[in-house]
Amino acid sequence: MSFLKEIERRRTFGIISHPDAGKTTLTEKLLLFGGAIQEAGAVKSNKIKKGATSDFMEIERQRGISVATSVLAFEYNGIKINILDTPGHKDFAEDTFRTLTAVDSVIVVIDVAKGVEEQTEKLVEVCRMRNIPMIVFINKMDREGKDAFELLDEIEQKLGLTVTPLSFPIGMGYDFKGIYNIWEKNINLFSGDSRKNIEDTIEISDLKSSELNDLVGDTSAETLREEIELVEGIYPAFDHEDYLNGTLQPVFFGSALNSFGVRELLDCFVEIAPKPRAKESEERLVKPEENKFTGFVFKIHANMDPNHRNRLAFIKIVSGEFKRNTPYLHVRHNKKVKFSSPNAFFAEKKEIVDISFPGDIVGLQDTGNFKIGDTLTEGEKLNYKGVPSFSPEHFRYINNADPLKSKQLFKGIDQLMDEGVAQLFTLELNGRKVIGTVGALQYEVIQYRLEHEYGAKCTYENLNVHKACWVDPSNSNTDEYKEFVRVKQRFLAKDKQNQLVFLADSIFSLQMTQQKYPNVKLHFTSEFS
Ligand code: G4P
Repeated sequence: MSFLKEIERRRTFGIISHPDAGKTTLTEKLLLFGGAIQEAGAVKSNKIKKGATSDFMEIERQRGISVATSVLAFEYNGIKINILDTPGHKDFAEDTFRTLTAVDSVIVVIDVAKGVEEQTEKLVEVCRMRNIPMIVFINKMDREGKDAFELLDEIEQKLGLTVTPLSFPIGMGYDFKGIYNIWEKNINLFSGDSRKNIEDTIEISDLKSSELNDLVGDTSAETLREEIELVEGIYPAFDHEDYLNGTLQPVFFGSALNSFGVRELLDCFVEIAPKPRAKESEERLVKPEENKFTGFVFKIHANMDPNHRNRLAFIKIVSGEFKRNTPYLHVRHNKKVKFSSPNAFFAEKKEIVDISFPGDIVGLQDTGNFKIGDTLTEGEKLNYKGVPSFSPEHFRYINNADPLKSKQLFKGIDQLMDEGVAQLFTLELNGRKVIGTVGALQYEVIQYRLEHEYGAKCTYENLNVHKACWVDPSNSNTDEYKEFVRVKQRFLAKDKQNQLVFLADSIFSLQMTQQKYPNVKLHFTSEFS
């Protein structure tokens, strides 16, 4: 197959949702349809169940599982699909944000009863900022939930999306009769039988035909006709370009658990979802069709085996072909490196591969040379735009609890931060180190890993910070900026990229600071231009 055909046929995406909406179940059903697994239950949820917070063995076990499900690849109708796993647990949201830099599109799963939840809002916002094409899947239609129109409204309001339903439910919960597939103009009847398959689809080219009444009964048929008329009146028609530009989001309804509405979703997905997209680097836009290889690290998974400090760096291939045993430039180190055993991922296994294409993910063995955002090329000095950091929610001083092991501690902290486990800030005033995390769970993970992987011990001390704001250096030679730095020194720190950060201790102090120094721009993410 030609290089261009290989690119054409790849779809690399992530499934995002609030925990429990059905992401794992949907992933599994997609794999079943793709023939990648034979039975349900093969995909392990990588969510950390409640109560496991302090159970380190559980954390370790979960980490083992999450590497196994980091990338799930399968073929469907000649299309190579790569699903990138995104942890649902909110304490690992950073990991999900980073993974979103490697996807070409996403599917958003929403629970019909719960509607738009907190995690969904955050993740969708990141996708919106990056104009990532999104398809929405409203799940659990076999249960009582919100009215379809009410839910579509909520999605538009809370998520700021413009939706266009491509399927529509006929009833719900106890009265759930099936789905009218607007995209394919057919009906899928629901029998609550999880073995439903493609043959059960009934073509309905004209909703006015009495055939519809025979299928779902007079009342449901009439309601459906009215609802579809409303849908056509209210929502914009599907437009492929708008979807690809991230300005229009198709919506599907179904029940992942019952494999219902999943095939329709998958069929539409392979047809409309984008092939690998071009990616901005600091220097230029890089297109997948370019024949020279480039790629970047979006995830690092460490120490699967505590006896060897080995890590697996996940590279998204942006352009060209990645070949085994070929020297590539590690741009940040300005050094050539080659890999004898790059891993490709399949539904249930990983394998060494000789060649991979744009859109694919390869896992490279690493002994500490990579950090998130690193770029590999055939020689060009290119830097893919980094993954932005968001303000952590928790802040704690980290103290060395064993003075004889300070070297190990600093090395450990350094490597864990490269992996993106948490963010490190160094206070300007006294050089003390502060760890910022999205969830409290991370502190336990860090403490545990420092001890078991690096032989170092640490303690924490709470630090009262409301928000970390990145200080725009553009006005740094003004008197106002200099005064800000002098007066606020106690609240200033450097992040790992040496960017200046203002650690505001309350909303009030943040507002006061902004009022007093209006020309010192403060940003809520580390990436701004
Ligand atoms: P997540 O990865 O988004 O966190 O969600 P997951 O797939 O684990 O699904 C969360 C729960 O919702 C699971 O039940 C799952 O069986 C259920 N579920 C998923 N899709 C549907 C659906 O279409 N209809 C109904 N009624 N339920 C659905 P659980 O009891 O929490 O877990 P389990 O014990 O069944 O694994």
